[in-house]
Amino acid sequence: MAQWVSVWRAAQLVGVPRSVLQQRVRTGEIELHDGLLSTEALLRLYPHVDIERSGLFERVMQVQQEAFSRRVRERLLPSQEVLAQRLFRQSQELADVQRHLQRYHALVLELRDAMGALLQRADDAGLLALQRQLNDGLARALATEPVDALNVMDDMLKAVSALVTLRPSGHQFVVEGHESLLQAGLRAGLKLNYGCGNGTCGMCKVRVTSGEVIKCMPFDYRLSELERQQGYLLMCANTAASSELAVETLEASGPADIALQQIVTTARAVRELAPDTRLLHLQTPRSHRLRFLAGQSVTLGRAGSERTAGDDVRTTLPIASCPCDDRNLHFYVARERDDAFTRLLFDGAIKTGDAINLWGPSGEFVLRDSQRPLVFAACDTGFAPIKSLIEHALSLDHAASLSLFWLATRGDGHFQANQCRAWSEALDPFEYALFTDADAAAGARQIATAVRADQFEVDCDFYLAGPERFVDELGRALLEAGVPPQQVTSELV
Ligand code: FES
Repeated sequence: MAQWVSVWRAAQLVGVPRSVLQQRVRTGEIELHDGLLSTEALLRLYPHVDIERSGLFERVMQVQQEAFSRRVRERLLPSQEVLAQRLFRQSQELADVQRHLQRYHALVLELRDAMGALLQRADDAGLLALQRQLNDGLARALATEPVDALNVMDDMLKAVSALVTLRPSGHQFVVEGHESLLQAGLRAGLKLNYGCGNGTCGMCKVRVTSGEVIKCMPFDYRLSELERQQGYLLMCANTAASSELAVETLEASGPADIALQQIVTTARAVRELAPDTRLLHLQTPRSHRLRFLAGQSVTLGRAGSERTAGDDVRTTLPIASCPCDDRNLHFYVARERDDAFTRLLFDGAIKTGDAINLWGPSGEFVLRDSQRPLVFAACDTGFAPIKSLIEHALSLDHAASLSLFWLATRGDGHFQANQCRAWSEALDPFEYALFTDADAAAGARQIATAVRADQFEVDCDFYLAGPERFVDELGRALLEAGVPPQQVTSELV
C-alpha cells in the first residue's frame, strides 16, 4: 500500500537532491498531494531503488562497523536517549496498527464461520460466491510478499532523523545526529530567529504545535509557566523526540530583519591562500555568535577601536563562509585593498589569538526567494560573498542548477579553484568556468559571451560580485541581452 511522504523524505529515500524531485514535480512527472508524494509514484520514477542501493542505508550500516569513526556516528545518529524516544513512539504506533489488524482479522473469521453455518442450513448460490470471495481475499491478505523497500527505509529514517515543519512558512528541514533544532534549521539554510545559540537570550523561542521534543543541552533562559503550558521551547536547547515535528515561528524575510551586532572575536588563523590573498578566520565567543545572511558583510577593527573613530584600523569585508556556522567566520583579503587593516594583516601585525572587533552584518547582497537556476559571476575576491551564497543555495537545495563564472585579474586570482572543483565533482547541479584577464571590464565581456552561450535560453537569477568595472560591464551586458533588471543583483568588492 502506498505511503505518503514529504519531498524532503522522498529525496532521502531515493538518494537524490530535493531540487531534482521539485523539478520533476514542476514538469508534472510526479504529483504532489497536500505537499506529499506517494511512495508508489516515487517507485515508478525510481524503480530500482532498494535498501542495498541507498547511500543512506549504507551510511547507517557503516556506523555499525567498529572501525567507523565516532565523528561520523555522531553526525548521523541521534543520542541514545533521542533514539529510544523515537523508537518508543514508533513502537506505540506499530502496536496500535497491530491491535486494529487483530480485531479486523477476528471479525473476518467470525463472518466466515457465520457464513459456513448459514450454508449448512440452506443452499444459496449468492452466499456461496461470497464465501469463496472471502476465502480468496483472506488467502491473498495472509500471503507473504516481498517487503516494500521504501516503506522499510522510511521507518528506519523516522528513527534516525526527524522532519521538522515550520508554520506558517511551511519550510521543512531534517534533524540528524546530535543537532539541536536550531543547528539543523541553520544547516538547511533557513533564516531562523535566534541570538546567543546557547540558551541564554530566549530569541529562538518557538511553539510546538505537534510532535515531541527533548532537551539536548542545559540552558539558563527561564520560560514562564504559561509559556511552557502553551508548548513554547528554545530551538537551540532542544531536538526532536518524534520523527515529525511542527513548530510555529517567524523567520527573517531579509536583511532588514537582522539586528546589527557588535562582537569581540578572536583571530583563529591568518593564512596565505595565494601570494596576494590572505584567509582571515575569526571565531566568535560561544555565547555570542553572529547572526547574518549569506552574502552580507561586516566591519572589522582592531580591538579597542571605535567604529566611528580610528578609521585607520577598520575595514568592511564580505563574509565568505556560510551562516550555518555562525561562530567561524572566513574572509578573503586581497593585498590591493591597501587600507590600514589590510596592511596590518599582510605585515603580520594581526595574528592568531588577536582580538578583533566586529560590527554588522550589513548589505543587501542576499539570495532572492526564487526557484530559478542561479548564475554567479565573481572577479578576484568577489568570490567571497559568492561562495557564501553558493553554500547557502546548496543548503536550501531549491535551485535546479548553479553555475559559477570566476574571473581572475591577477596570477593568483583563482585562490579557491580547488573548492570549485570539489563542488562540481560532488554536486550534479553545479558547474563552473574560470577566466583570466588583467582588465576587469574585458574579462566581464568574456564572461558575458560565455554566459550568452550557456545560459541565455534559461530564465535565471544572476549574482555579480567584484570591482566596479567588472560589475558594471557585466550587468550592462546582461540587461542588453534582455535579462530583467530585478533578476540581476550585484555587490562591489
Ligand atoms: S538562541 Fe539564545 S536562547 Fe536560543
